[in-house]
Amino acid sequence: MSVTEQPPAGDPSRGPAGDPAAESARQALNDRIAADSLTTRRDYLRIVATVSGGLAVGGIGVAAGVLHRHGDNDGVPEPKKIANALAPGESLAFRYPGDEDRAVAVRLRDGTLVGYSAVCTHLACAVLWREDRGMEGELLCPCHEGVFDVRTGEVTAGPPPRPLPRVILNEDTDGSVWAVATARSGENDKDAWCRQFADEAPDRAALLECPGSRIQGSPA
Ligand code: FES
Repeated sequence: MSVTEQPPAGDPSRGPAGDPAAESARQALNDRIAADSLTTRRDYLRIVATVSGGLAVGGIGVAAGVLHRHGDNDGVPEPKKIANALAPGESLAFRYPGDEDRAVAVRLRDGTLVGYSAVCTHLACAVLWREDRGMEGELLCPCHEGVFDVRTGEVTAGPPPRPLPRVILNEDTDGSVWAVATARSGENDKDAWCRQFADEAPDRAALLECPGSRIQGSPA
């Protein structure tokens, strides 16, 4: 039936022309459809406003340093075994030091083992390992095409303002891989250890010759 054709007079879905009961039912149906579409539009606008607001608040929070950022933990995190082994070219998503702290470990093709926070320093989207990009793979944030150097965590493209915080990894003699500490954006291993040992493990800070540290019991 073409759209210009009229239904047969007895079509029960349309009702007979001029029938007041059918006309009333049709009007009620039209009102319902209009109300439903209005509800759908309102829901849609509410969802958009919520998502946009959430992103804006997240951005402000990250910019202001209000939200928890990877590597901002106090004290010395517990070592955590993250894999029995990690072969060249493999990567692993894990959480460290807390259950909310997303991280990624990558074994580069030359055997180098690196670990980073997987929370983008721009607006906290998830950072992904993409082996197919660049000379030896890249860490990519798909939200705004932020790119990080997989060897250093430095920003190589896009809007992220800082390098990725690092997760310091150790490989045991049996090949197992352990996350042992975190380092803030741009912080070297020693500074990261010293910051975390300063209060809770002053003897270990002294062994590392951290600034201001001394073996307990030794003269000030
Ligand atoms: S959140 Fe990662 S580039 Fe914007």
